[in-house]
Amino acid sequence: MKKKVAIIGAGQVAEKVHVSYYQTREELELAAVVGPNPERVKDFAERNGIPQYFTNAEEMHAAVKPDIVSVCTPNRFHCENVLLAIAHGCDVICEKPPAISAAEAKQMRDAAEANGCLLAYDFHHRFADDVTILHDKVKEGILGDVYVTKVKALRRCGIPGWGSFTDKEVQGGGPLIDLGAHMLDAALYVLGFPKIKRVSAKMYQKIGTKKSKGTLGEWDPNKYEVEDSLFGFIELEGGGLIQLETSFALNIKDTSIMNVEFCGDEAGATLFPAQIYTDEGGELVYLLDRKTADADRHPKSMEAFVDRCLGKDVMVADGRQGYVIQQLIEALYQSAEKGESVTL
Ligand SMILES: NC(=O)c1ccc[n+]([C@@H]2O[C@H](COP(=O)([O-])OP(=O)(O)OC[C@H]3O[C@@H](n4cnc5c(N)ncnc54)[C@H](O)[C@@H]3O)[C@@H](O)[C@H]2O)c1
Repeated sequence: MKKKVAIIGAGQVAEKVHVSYYQTREELELAAVVGPNPERVKDFAERNGIPQYFTNAEEMHAAVKPDIVSVCTPNRFHCENVLLAIAHGCDVICEKPPAISAAEAKQMRDAAEANGCLLAYDFHHRFADDVTILHDKVKEGILGDVYVTKVKALRRCGIPGWGSFTDKEVQGGGPLIDLGAHMLDAALYVLGFPKIKRVSAKMYQKIGTKKSKGTLGEWDPNKYEVEDSLFGFIELEGGGLIQLETSFALNIKDTSIMNVEFCGDEAGATLFPAQIYTDEGGELVYLLDRKTADADRHPKSMEAFVDRCLGKDVMVADGRQGYVIQQLIEALYQSAEKGESVTL
């Protein structure tokens, strides 16, 4: 019998990523979608051939009894919808970031473990072949001791012009929680999730409140509530350092940079595309030289989740790792707000 899937949050990521992937799997049946606006959720269902639509998630669970749930709402509603789905015994994939606080991410992790449900987060960048390759090379010790990692999740003028990405209460923050979360996850995954000791950060709100138009549409500068850039230092147990740069808007040359560099005492590496290099007598020598980065990350993230739901032993970005990322994000925001370092 096919597994029934329900989507909570009928927005762009639900349609482009979740629905379009589920439609490729014959083991699944897209059964229902939930959204707050009756007309928009009806349109979404009709456009995507989904037989049932609801404006209330409780009613959907009672009527449809799905096996699998995708939570694609704005960040503030992730936790309540994940907990509800888990209470109904569903396996869940939740969009990133896990939640808007570490306490919520912990509750979500604990509920999944207590109920024996799968909880995965759509940290899709870690599913690129480039990440798999570097993860294995770091583990083999090709880079030696990786003591400095540089994480960049930067946009020049890329404040999202849709959704609620500039609303602090609904999203929990700006580029750190939205973009930085992705590259922090990819970096920590490659490094094997080392223990974090202390963080310090500084954030700015310099452009979002002044301008109103960018590469990703228009926003209201009077309602721009989140940071537009944040910079941080993350000290690891054992002496390593992660340097973080993240922005929605920052006067840099590139439109967008989403990448991680790893500096070891034997070799260095860049994540997208995966390249490993070292210095021989002052000359740069490549040990690995991929020319293009794997762009198929989203379908691979969805594939891993569905395969796990169907019993395959594959890697997903799980509830425990989601909690670690959320703790880190919260500590970075706390540090930036207080102007002092935060020990984890
Ligand atoms: N993995 C990625 O790369 C990626 C990309 C884009 C967005 N996202 C994440 O996906 C989520 C949604 O982003 P989006 O770009 O699709 O935004 P969006 O605004 O297009 O969609 C969100 C949808 O959720 C609906 N919604 C709001 N409150 C709800 C509630 N309480 N219950 C059910 N539905 C509700 C809204 O009506 C809207 O249709 C965010 O958490 C975002 O961070 C992840």
